[in-house]
Amino acid sequence: MKYYVATYGCQMNVHESEKLAGILEKLGYKPASSMFESDIVVFNTCCIRESAEQKIFGNIGELKKTKMQNKNMIVAVCGCMSQQKGYDEILAKKFPFIDIIFGTHNLSKFEDFVKLRKKTKKRVVSIDETEDIKDRDSMEKVRTSGVNAWVNIMYGCNNFCTYCIVPYVRGREVSRPMSDVVKEVKSLLESGYKQITLLGQNVNSYGNDVEDSTMTFANLLGELDKLDFDFRLRFMTSHPKDLSSDVIDVIASSKHISHYIHLPFQSGSNKILSAMNRRYTKEKYLATIDEIKAKIPDVQFSSDIIVGFPGETEEDFLQTLDVVKKVGFEQLFMFMYSKRKGTVAEKMDGHIDISVKKERLSRLIELEREISSGISETFVGKTLRVLVEEASPKKQGFLVGSIDQGKAINFEGNPDLIGQFVDVKVTKAKLTSLFGEIVRGEE
Ligand code: 5AD
Ligand code: SF4
Repeated sequence: MKYYVATYGCQMNVHESEKLAGILEKLGYKPASSMFESDIVVFNTCCIRESAEQKIFGNIGELKKTKMQNKNMIVAVCGCMSQQKGYDEILAKKFPFIDIIFGTHNLSKFEDFVKLRKKTKKRVVSIDETEDIKDRDSMEKVRTSGVNAWVNIMYGCNNFCTYCIVPYVRGREVSRPMSDVVKEVKSLLESGYKQITLLGQNVNSYGNDVEDSTMTFANLLGELDKLDFDFRLRFMTSHPKDLSSDVIDVIASSKHISHYIHLPFQSGSNKILSAMNRRYTKEKYLATIDEIKAKIPDVQFSSDIIVGFPGETEEDFLQTLDVVKKVGFEQLFMFMYSKRKGTVAEKMDGHIDISVKKERLSRLIELEREISSGISETFVGKTLRVLVEEASPKKQGFLVGSIDQGKAINFEGNPDLIGQFVDVKVTKAKLTSLFGEIVRGEE
């Protein structure tokens, strides 16, 4: 019996798929290399933009023929798309062959759903919000990211940015107890993981949902940094309105925390930021960046940007380009605004024509290409600490690793080094990639 989990969207989904795989392996399934040769297929979906939805609909549709030929195959659809209002019915109508539909609040009940489906042969639908997050936390995981491990520190989002569907499909913020997080990270380090990424929709508001005033993100980072292992600690996603000086200070004085910070700013225009309900200004964002640069001189940043939010003028867009130039992001995730049903922005005036969005996006991409290749050049000649992640899929005898500031680096080496930190001298930069030679950490 074989399984296949198709994952769409963010790291949160990638990690939740590891939990779903954990259940399937417990039930005796083994991983398949393609969904067409599986006995159970799970689509773990995303709905952040319309393009994600279109892709998922297309992929589910591709399975129809196989499912018709193999009636015992089980098809399950879960995640953010299923959790959207009315989507259980839309999915069931569009794809009558789907056997199980469940939402973001029912992950830990997946085992029961599979058993129920097998017993009754009827479709199982469950999108209620009754799950205890403790059950979700304690699920077995089939970790799939090599030397990297993801750890949830909180679920949900309270921010309601006006364009965003996430608070509607993921519910309100719930933080995991600090002792649970520390325990999980410690046991991952004991089993050899080298890079831990803490996950939450807005990690800086960790602990805001509980009385205990010591349960803050800065304290959590401080506690984790004390763990006496050779590892790198990362986290995502930070919200500029909540990233406090305390957190910046902890990173600056830490031993393990990566000097690569993902800090989405979405737009450089104060008018648009206000319409987005982001609750910071361009000036406040740039002041936070300056504070971080002053305290952590070798820091690099990445960010998310939306172009073509309703009402965005050319002048507003130029403000976005201005922030990109001022900060100098190592990497940008750039999106055209996509209308999401039920959000505040959906009803706003001034929706922007797709041709204007495309034109702005391509200007932004062009600017970022110049900036990021300029940043790559600054690493040439330096010797950097690199986590060796995998054998190069492109070049025999080469390895791929990551530097502390996020970038990938390629160098010749023995695969025995995978999972170790080595020193690599950067010899060449090509657009966003680096190339180098090991200087220490003998093979
Ligand atoms: N349209 C386009 N991009 C969006 N994002 C969130 N909602 C939308 C939307 N409706 C982007 C934001 C966020 C990232 C995860 O996705 O930039 O930071
Ligand atoms: Fe969406 Fe804003 Fe919450 Fe991020 S902070 S998940 S963009 S509502």
